[in-house]
Amino acid sequence: MDKAVLAYSGGVDTSVAIRWLREKYNLDIITLTVDIGNVANMEAIKQKALNVGAIKAIVIDARKPFVNSFVFPALQANAMYEGQYPLATALGRPLIAQLMVDTAKKEGATIIAHGCTGKGNDQVRLDVCTAALAPELKVIAPAREWGMTREQTIAYAQKYNIPIPITASSPYSIDENLWGRSAECGVLENPWNEPPEDAFEWTKPPAETPDKADYVEIGFDKGIPISLNGKKLDGVALIQKIHDLAAMHGVGRIDHVENRLVGIKSREIYEAPAAVVLLQSHLALEGLVMTKDQLRFKDKVAVEYSDLAYNGLWFSSLRQDLAAYVESSQRYVTGTVRVKLYKGTCQVVGRKSPYSLYDFSLATYDKDDVFDQSASPGFIHLWGLPVRTQARIQQINK
Ligand code: ARG
Repeated sequence: MDKAVLAYSGGVDTSVAIRWLREKYNLDIITLTVDIGNVANMEAIKQKALNVGAIKAIVIDARKPFVNSFVFPALQANAMYEGQYPLATALGRPLIAQLMVDTAKKEGATIIAHGCTGKGNDQVRLDVCTAALAPELKVIAPAREWGMTREQTIAYAQKYNIPIPITASSPYSIDENLWGRSAECGVLENPWNEPPEDAFEWTKPPAETPDKADYVEIGFDKGIPISLNGKKLDGVALIQKIHDLAAMHGVGRIDHVENRLVGIKSREIYEAPAAVVLLQSHLALEGLVMTKDQLRFKDKVAVEYSDLAYNGLWFSSLRQDLAAYVESSQRYVTGTVRVKLYKGTCQVVGRKSPYSLYDFSLATYDKDDVFDQSASPGFIHLWGLPVRTQARIQQINK
């Protein structure tokens, strides 16, 4: 029998897929469950996969590589899709594809399988990332093929004694990892409906947040956050700590009507407390240590980089080329940012760096001012020369 590696969440769809792949394609299934900050009980998931009929169930804690090789490079790029979505899911998929490919090679599997439907971005990301890393592997996406409704999937599960979680299932479709959580479906599908409180799981509603603000100091080294209030922390722990604090203050709720790669507009509710705080802080530090031209150019790269990540092109040459630029741009992005968390808001209230380009003696209006104002008229004379010439000859404003 040929072997397939199936990305396994422990949910109904991927459990049914274990059985369905064996029936339909006569495959031995090895499941792979990747923890990128989302999996509660790895042992239970592993056991469930074996019970449902997988020949082997592998679980990997990939939080560290997720943070170091995907989240932090994206943070250095200020990656936010359409200026709003910090790309949590989009950054997780390439890593999952990579681990699936590694596992397939190790286990002698020729097929990669995943539970994505045919309407979303995730199928594109997993298929294209797999193709970039191992074009010889075949990808099968059962839920894209089987044409079963929700009810039929559940009936299929019952027929084969596949356990269905008894907990009242959420009315939303959820995906989460340590960089963010997304909710879709149900009442959220009408973009006029305010998201009900039960769409949020991580963040407190502003009415229930503390009446006293919290201040946090985030230390960066070359664009990578390395400390919190002066204490050095590894990436995973640092994100977790900021997450807890920011979520308590209701920070990081995002309501986005976004443009999917497959042409659909979809209404997404995100919670990304740590991402929002870190992205804002990183931007503020860059604002202090980079020239205006560097900042303007880097903003353009951020848009391009975000689109590539969103559209499944993480392992493309262009994304790698842009990543090299981004890394180089971070040489002096070292320093500390102070943020205030209060009633659903995150505000940068201070920044400092040994490489700060902010020059007090140039900016001040006090007696220490060294800016030579007598140089300004000459500068303005040349700056305005084309406008003056055009106004004289073409009378554009007459
Ligand atoms: N819209 C977001 C994205 O495309 C979130 C997708 C969440 N995925 C999921 N299978 N529920 O990245």
